[in-house]
Amino acid sequence: MSDLNELYQETILEHNKNPRNFREIEDADQTALGNNPLCGDALQIFVKMDGERVADVAFKGSGCAISKASASMMTQAVKGKTLGEADKLFEEFHRMVTGELDIEAGADDLGKLRAFAGVLEFPARVKCASLSWHTLNAALHGEGEISTE
Ligand code: FES
Repeated sequence: MSDLNELYQETILEHNKNPRNFREIEDADQTALGNNPLCGDALQIFVKMDGERVADVAFKGSGCAISKASASMMTQAVKGKTLGEADKLFEEFHRMVTGELDIEAGADDLGKLRAFAGVLEFPARVKCASLSWHTLNAALHGEGEISTE
């Protein structure tokens, strides 16, 4: 395993053990529930907006290490972003885990989220990594519930 892969794996394990923004937002403006029908895992995302900006974002639920770490890192990545910036990150993340984005080109804003590029080789894990992102997208665009099927 390359040093970089090892570093990425450590990042994912650390976020699973100590997830950031793992809580409810009681006065959330938007919330959505996402579930992965393949395993039954489900996450709820809470969003507090300040105009066009994501002022706070948090999640709750149960999921595997990858889905939990992905949700944790997603909340860190989108907090403070505008709706347009969050949409762009969602689109880039989705393209990365489905193999449509060449991250070597360096033309994206994914940063640490590149830790999930490796799921591409494990098709069942793509849904784990993208569950929180699809759920966030549903919350931001007023769809209350989504399933990754
Ligand atoms: Fe359920 Fe990963 S195994 S989300």
